[in-house]
Amino acid sequence: MATSPGPKDRARAEKLRDEIRRHERLYYREARPEISDREFDDLLKRLEELEAQFPELRTPDSPTQRVGGEPLEGFVSVAHDVPMLSLANTYNEDELREFDRRVREGLPNETVRYHVELKFDGVAVAARYVGGVLTLGATRGDGRTGDDITSNLRTVRDLPLRLDEDVTLEVRGEVYLERADFDRLNEARAAADLELYVNPRNTAAGTLKLLDPKIVAERRLRMFVYGAVAGDTFESHSQAMDRLAELGFPVDGNRRICDSVEEVLEFVEHWRSHRRELPYETDGLVVKVDSYRHQNRLGATSKAPRWAIAYKFPAEGQPTRLEAIQVQIGRMGTATPVAHLEPVFVGGSTVRRATLHNLDEIRRKDIREGDTVLVEKGGDVIPKVAAVVMDKRPKDSKPWRFPRKCPVCGTAFVKEETEVAYRCPNPECAAQREGRIGHFAARDGMDIEGLGTKLIEQLVAKDLVRDVGDLYSLTFEDLVGLDRMGELSARNLLDSLERSRERPFARVLFAIGIRHVGAHVARVLAEAKGSLAALRESTVEELSEIHEVGETVAASVVDFLGRKESRVLIGKLEKAGLRLEQDRAAGAKPLAGQTVVLTGTLTGYTRNQAAQLLRDAGARVAGSVSKTTNWVVAGEAAGSKLKKAQDLGVPVLGEADLPRLVAGELS
Ligand code: IVH
Repeated sequence: MATSPGPKDRARAEKLRDEIRRHERLYYREARPEISDREFDDLLKRLEELEAQFPELRTPDSPTQRVGGEPLEGFVSVAHDVPMLSLANTYNEDELREFDRRVREGLPNETVRYHVELKFDGVAVAARYVGGVLTLGATRGDGRTGDDITSNLRTVRDLPLRLDEDVTLEVRGEVYLERADFDRLNEARAAADLELYVNPRNTAAGTLKLLDPKIVAERRLRMFVYGAVAGDTFESHSQAMDRLAELGFPVDGNRRICDSVEEVLEFVEHWRSHRRELPYETDGLVVKVDSYRHQNRLGATSKAPRWAIAYKFPAEGQPTRLEAIQVQIGRMGTATPVAHLEPVFVGGSTVRRATLHNLDEIRRKDIREGDTVLVEKGGDVIPKVAAVVMDKRPKDSKPWRFPRKCPVCGTAFVKEETEVAYRCPNPECAAQREGRIGHFAARDGMDIEGLGTKLIEQLVAKDLVRDVGDLYSLTFEDLVGLDRMGELSARNLLDSLERSRERPFARVLFAIGIRHVGAHVARVLAEAKGSLAALRESTVEELSEIHEVGETVAASVVDFLGRKESRVLIGKLEKAGLRLEQDRAAGAKPLAGQTVVLTGTLTGYTRNQAAQLLRDAGARVAGSVSKTTNWVVAGEAAGSKLKKAQDLGVPVLGEADLPRLVAGELS
């Protein structure tokens, strides 16, 4: 066994590091990735293995060291040498003009220029570099003292761990979550029937305060740098920002120099209507006097600089009356307050309900029954109450109170320490049973047509269905006796139940509603283990070894399958003839782990058909060619991708080779 690395090992480590840093830059700073997340993870894993073999190759600025060490016990305080100030807000044109007037008054006979940038909706942090190496990350705290969050900040991949130059400086910026990453996180929460996170900002703030950097890393926090504590190195903010970008810091390109307040207002107008096109949230613009000499002359109050101001976009949405707040119980008991609204047309559809998330959120926005509220439909489908129109609040209105008991079964709510949400702890609660059946029957589950909410309510109320296994012993007589259920509908439902027996194992695994197991994870588990029996025999450790399966998921699966009720349920599903193992044919994946790129025009298949064939064979179909691409299939008139494949030495096949490729005859 080798104990110390040879020159070749050193060179390999250095090469891997450079390559990983290059992909980090392409992905995070230039938004033009060349390889998939999986391929990136593989590179990182290779470096990790090498460093594990030769620990002396492990440098603190190695990309493997973004997630290092054990969870912290708590955070240590750090003082800010230069206080982290806040910004004064304005909400309209007049206030902005007033700011401009004050600035010019403070700088007589000077030419004032503004640097206008987006106001990122996240959390303020400071990052200190000594000799080009990231040495400290801190939250803003009260502006004078914050928390040392170095290990969490290191997980933010936009932020370089080491700069190319040997400089010492402190940068300040905003840590945020992209909307897509926030949605992904909430999808996983929904699969676990956990209370959903309210918005990307709260989630980013909560994430930075987690003690385990491993969890932080999974959340994919992002960062924009919007300033530097630079002494007198630069003449202006714009100069500093250009330099920071050059040093490799994530500086947003959507910034502009404005010579007049009119120009600022134009920029504001542009972003008011285009902000939804950004992958992240912005709640306004920040207008900064550009020259540092001017900034110093204007100075600051104890709270905020006089040389900058935030222009906040007004709350958007359609006004309507909030008639009542009711608590809805999810399939695992989570109690979510829901606004019942006077129907209102928003974003292409009529909205009657909107989620209010939780009690904290209701208190923060001070939402009450009887209020007129602004209803908004953001990028996602779930409508939200954006704000209350305070002028229209009825005089006798009172703050809303969370009920103490489950409105459905009367059991007292419980609250888990780590969660904000209340939960009904009774698994027999009709609402939870209905939720489980609804989840089972949903389109991405067993897709049982004709099994809607009203019907499910009756089946549960009449005790015809206690768990989803009972669906398969329903008879024609059971059904025709129900409200609004004719003979034809009863027959149709029995037919759809019959058809649902054919759903593949992965769908069944998702549909039975194991906490933390969403549709995607169910497919991963099904493919890795092949059958429910095999899953049942697996330990938490074994399941955690599967790519994309974390310990939380693994523990949840083991817990679920070990329960007595689950055994009863699975017995029923087995008896009903559901598929509790992978299809053999589906198990054969000759291209598993391989990446294929399609390019040019295919004549015998549509692009989608070809991609599907490849995916069915286990391949990942990528959009661009890189060194890790295994095959390129080129049709007619293939262009730059073909050339790149040739340059990189990636094997190129013609359309006619496709059948042999998917049959595994070429690998
Ligand atoms: S400059 C002394 N620029 O807004 C000025 N702040 O409401 C310091 N923020 O605490 C802030 N985007 O967290 C600045 N482009 C931007 C910003 C920005 C978001 C946040 C920052 C600050 C808060 C003040």
